[in-house]
Amino acid sequence: MSSVWRWILGLVVLIGSLRRRRQEREHDRIVEKAPGNPRAEVAVAILLLLTTLFAVAFIVFLATDSIGGQTQLMGATLGACFLFFAAALIVAAKTIIATEEIEEEYPEPGNPQEQQEVDQIIRESGDGITRKGLLRTTGGAAIAAIGAAIVAPIAGFGPFLKTRELQQAPWHRGRRLVDEKGKPYKASDISSETFYTAYPEGDVSKSLIGAPIVLVRLEMSALKLPPGRADWAPGGIVGYSKICTHAGCAIALYRKPLFPTVEPRPALVCPCHYSTFDPAEGAKVIFGPAGRPLPQLPLTVDAHGYLRARGNLSGPPGPGWWGVRSGPARNAS
Ligand code: FES
Repeated sequence: MSSVWRWILGLVVLIGSLRRRRQEREHDRIVEKAPGNPRAEVAVAILLLLTTLFAVAFIVFLATDSIGGQTQLMGATLGACFLFFAAALIVAAKTIIATEEIEEEYPEPGNPQEQQEVDQIIRESGDGITRKGLLRTTGGAAIAAIGAAIVAPIAGFGPFLKTRELQQAPWHRGRRLVDEKGKPYKASDISSETFYTAYPEGDVSKSLIGAPIVLVRLEMSALKLPPGRADWAPGGIVGYSKICTHAGCAIALYRKPLFPTVEPRPALVCPCHYSTFDPAEGAKVIFGPAGRPLPQLPLTVDAHGYLRARGNLSGPPGPGWWGVRSGPARNAS
């Protein structure tokens, strides 16, 4: 027999033995071979794709402050993401995954023979799936996108590395205090009955955390400012950062007693969690969760009666976190 015939014969024997082994394997199956359901697999893949798209949309909306209705869009996209993911799991469970009910408990791992059978059941359960690659890709993408959507809001806890700008305040010696419309405040504009919001004059963004200042006028005799601040309150007018040192809400309430002899003294109050600050004593915290006083702006009155800053805030404005409680405010401009 020539070597060519020997090769052909060997090939025939090999193919025959492979076929026989496959038939044996089919015969030894534990889980019956299920017919594939390609349409259901495509439906699951589409649902997983939608899950991924909405998770990514959530991250985009989270990162884009400039769009209107940001909160609603974030809620809608995250809700849709979980809805489609749940739908994908339900459709997969009902139509693709092989289900088997056994009367006895699965054997404890340890018996190699039984363990092999469990492995075989798991392996064979997926035999009916015809588009494993597609489902693996869309499923992996959906899980990765959901993971990213869950982790992304951590960035909202605050800047971890670039904290410098949160310590900045746009105040410096000589800068006038103006109202919301840019009209400079005169000391005579400030009455003792209420409080006023002031901003730095000039080309300064009002949204800077150190920009808004709350002004109140108190009796000179009531002032007990910390050492070194005796000349920071001309005519009893004191100015403090308007941003609460607890979680950054605006100080929007002024407690002014109508019957001073029996009621508590004037106080600046944050409406979010009712941190209360005593303006007569350097805005020290007298109630609530804030951990430090409101930074004070040193004030002076110029020759024309206008209120001007004598310098920067006494400390970094805004909520406290990590090291921001220590150190002075930095100049923003
Ligand atoms: S943010 Fe002001 S008390 Fe919480």
